[in-house]
Amino acid sequence: MAQFPKLLNDRLLRAARGESVDAAPVWVMRQAGRYLPEFREMRAEADFFKICQTPELACEITLQPIRRFELDAAIIFSDILVVPQALGMKVEMKPGVGPVFDKPLVNPGDIDRLTIPDVNTVLKYVFDAITLTRHKLEGKVPLIGFTGAPWTLMSYMIEGGGSKTQSKAKKWLYQHPEASHKLLKIITDVNVEYLVGQVRAGAQLLQVFESNAEYLGPVEFSKFALPCLIEINRRVKDKLVAEGLDIVPMTVFAKGAHYALAELGGSGYDVVGLDWTIDPTEARKLVGPNVTLQGNLDPCGLYAPSTDIEARVKMMVQQFGRDRWIANLGHGIYPDMDPESVETFVNSIHSHTKL
Ligand code: CP3
Repeated sequence: MAQFPKLLNDRLLRAARGESVDAAPVWVMRQAGRYLPEFREMRAEADFFKICQTPELACEITLQPIRRFELDAAIIFSDILVVPQALGMKVEMKPGVGPVFDKPLVNPGDIDRLTIPDVNTVLKYVFDAITLTRHKLEGKVPLIGFTGAPWTLMSYMIEGGGSKTQSKAKKWLYQHPEASHKLLKIITDVNVEYLVGQVRAGAQLLQVFESNAEYLGPVEFSKFALPCLIEINRRVKDKLVAEGLDIVPMTVFAKGAHYALAELGGSGYDVVGLDWTIDPTEARKLVGPNVTLQGNLDPCGLYAPSTDIEARVKMMVQQFGRDRWIANLGHGIYPDMDPESVETFVNSIHSHTKL
């Protein structure tokens, strides 16, 4: 494996492993994005997926928030939808609309349209971006890699983009459970290769985004989503060991899955991400003492005046405690938010948790 600069800030990794920290680590979901004028400037000149596919550009955007704020982690600039693309689907990112698939999956027979990729070839551009970024970070903070969880990716592949109900994708779960399992397995297998490849390339923590968990309930989540999540964590770590690589901590963020927090706590993931709708004390009771929690300020809390953001942070510190906690929002930051609010959030997490 390539030699990278020595890591100078290991708060994120220490918190993920349950070790003591000198202050709580903090990062922000979607920290590289449209709320930053320097991102919008680059985006005006280049297509979204073109940026993802160009390691120098993806690296530059990853570093933008790190230059501005005292964040404790960088997350590689990419998207969960690069996996459906790797499976042969065409996806465009339309400004003001979001992702649009050219030919979504309609019937179980459409699964045969997917091509099983050689991940190391097809997604090499992500690995190259990660390696370049590890060097350019100069050890300042660790680099997070990520993927979309199988159910969330399946739902995008069937809905063809965003959806208010996910009814087309959920219809598969009820009408075609076998085909659903087949599709979920294809995505699970690609995700395992993809995440291991990210670690080989230099990723130091991996996050799995189950953003569409909120559309399921406990029964369907246990049947279709959770087994894949558990399998990904186990297989990735087994493979890392088999390759003689260090095991990296893994985070599962299943948005809206209050109903499954106890199961997620026992799923083998080191970190469980929380959205803002659950009380941290309640979440801690459900997941148990041996995992790290991540979250969970309501992203819209960043619209509040800075004194109110600070007051909220103080409350979060009381509820989460300073150990086994990675501070973050409960979902991604919105494009119209003020970068200064991010600064307030980040700095007050540090000032209220410093030893
Ligand atoms: O967090 C980061 O800074 C790293 C980059 C990142 C992006 N997407 C960049 C992005 C990450 C981690 C993601 C994950 C992602 N992508 C998720 C899971 C997290 C979540 O939000 O629930 C999902 C569901 C997607 C799919 C996706 N990508 C959607 C639905 C959209 C449209 C909505 C939106 O926010 O614009 C995107 C677009 C996207 N992904 C943008 C960025 C910076 C904006 C694209 C643009 O510039 O037009």
